Amino acid sequence: MNSSASASPQRFLTGITTTGTPHLGNFVGSIRPSVAASRLPGVQSFYFLADYHALIKCGDPARIQRSTLEIAASWLAAGLDPERVVFYRQSDIPEIPELTWLLTCVTGKGVLNRAHAYKASVDKNEAAGNDPDADVTAGLFMYPVLMGADILMFKAHKVPVGRDQIQHIEMARDMAQRFNHLYGEHLVLPEAAIEESVALLPGLDGRKMSKSYDNTIPLFTSRDRLRKLINGIVTDSRAPGEAKATEGSALFQIYQAFASENETAALAQAYVEGIGWGEAKQALFERIDREVAPMRARYEALVADPAQIETLLLAGAEKARAIATPFMGELRRAVGLRNLGATAPKAAQGKAAKAAAPAFKQYREKDGRFYFKLLDAEGVLLLQSQGFGSPRDAATAISTLQKEGEAAIAALQGQVQCPAGVTPEQLQAALEFFAPTA
Ligand code: TRP
Repeated sequence: MNSSASASPQRFLTGITTTGTPHLGNFVGSIRPSVAASRLPGVQSFYFLADYHALIKCGDPARIQRSTLEIAASWLAAGLDPERVVFYRQSDIPEIPELTWLLTCVTGKGVLNRAHAYKASVDKNEAAGNDPDADVTAGLFMYPVLMGADILMFKAHKVPVGRDQIQHIEMARDMAQRFNHLYGEHLVLPEAAIEESVALLPGLDGRKMSKSYDNTIPLFTSRDRLRKLINGIVTDSRAPGEAKATEGSALFQIYQAFASENETAALAQAYVEGIGWGEAKQALFERIDREVAPMRARYEALVADPAQIETLLLAGAEKARAIATPFMGELRRAVGLRNLGATAPKAAQGKAAKAAAPAFKQYREKDGRFYFKLLDAEGVLLLQSQGFGSPRDAATAISTLQKEGEAAIAALQGQVQCPAGVTPEQLQAALEFFAPTA
């Protein structure tokens, strides 16, 4: 690992819309690679249940609640470690809709007109001779802005998504660029991370496994039902003893997504030797069940105890808000939603003047610990922190300083140091800038 990577861990962020029940395609395409990535050293991962996004697509409250439970339980059962990552529910973070509004105000309406999901609805209406916006909610139209807020709030560098979502990440980049241009460098420009190696899983009928084709195999279903569903995968009509083609065989592709290279090679050989479809389906069933069975047991225990998941999610929300609350404060001040008693920076004269304001900078040192410093509007160092064990601890100290001002320094004994020559008045003037407006 190079030093810049260790100084600032790569932040990954993924949201899962809470409208459905996870299927094998979600597992292979998203859950499994994301859980594996969350275990890599040097990355910080954010996983959240996008329940505000779910409201755009689904007006059934019971289904939203059930899906949120099932998706949370699936990720946990698949090995997501809530101690290691930040795992939370979007609607527990009020700063996200707040940031959505700030971003709404820097996003061109014309840009949103071109978003794929919205455009698809308009095209469909036009083809049917209806009003272009018939049955289109403003929620669907604003979808990319809410997603931008999800991403930019946590300064994500990488967002693992399917190809259909690349446009949304590009829009989030544009929002960040526009915001930074107007208000100074606050937002990190995210990038889509497309996993080329991740298999697109075919479904029961051979088309891509997807809820909209109704061809899915649920990730956590009983053994019996799993066997029945697998028996229903389309095959050709070749009889046992006849050689079979692996190419274009949904059964083979699904097997490959779960099996080792050796196992896959063995099944390919069996195809050549004319394995019967019944036997091949049995092999696929055994292979998937071997991987899923231990997770299924954890899943069932989790779903049976929703209160435990609720507690985990609330703890995750606390971690997320330790970042989101002070950052949202920074952004509010950046756009001018400020304490009127705080020393206003001089009236804006060009871009540089607008950005000139005191700032907390957070960073990580080679010792692996998390630091921050406070600079005044001219960039002069006013406070230097010691190293904290986690970004959350650093963020807590920052938010204490922001809320309580200079008086907090005594309470934060030893955690922050003031360089010689900096007066308490200077410090207070800078910290007042961050004081809550209410
Ligand atoms: N739009 C994503 C999907 O449908 C879900 C999502 C919401 C998301 N917010 C996000 C994904 C932020 C990545 C980052 O799959």
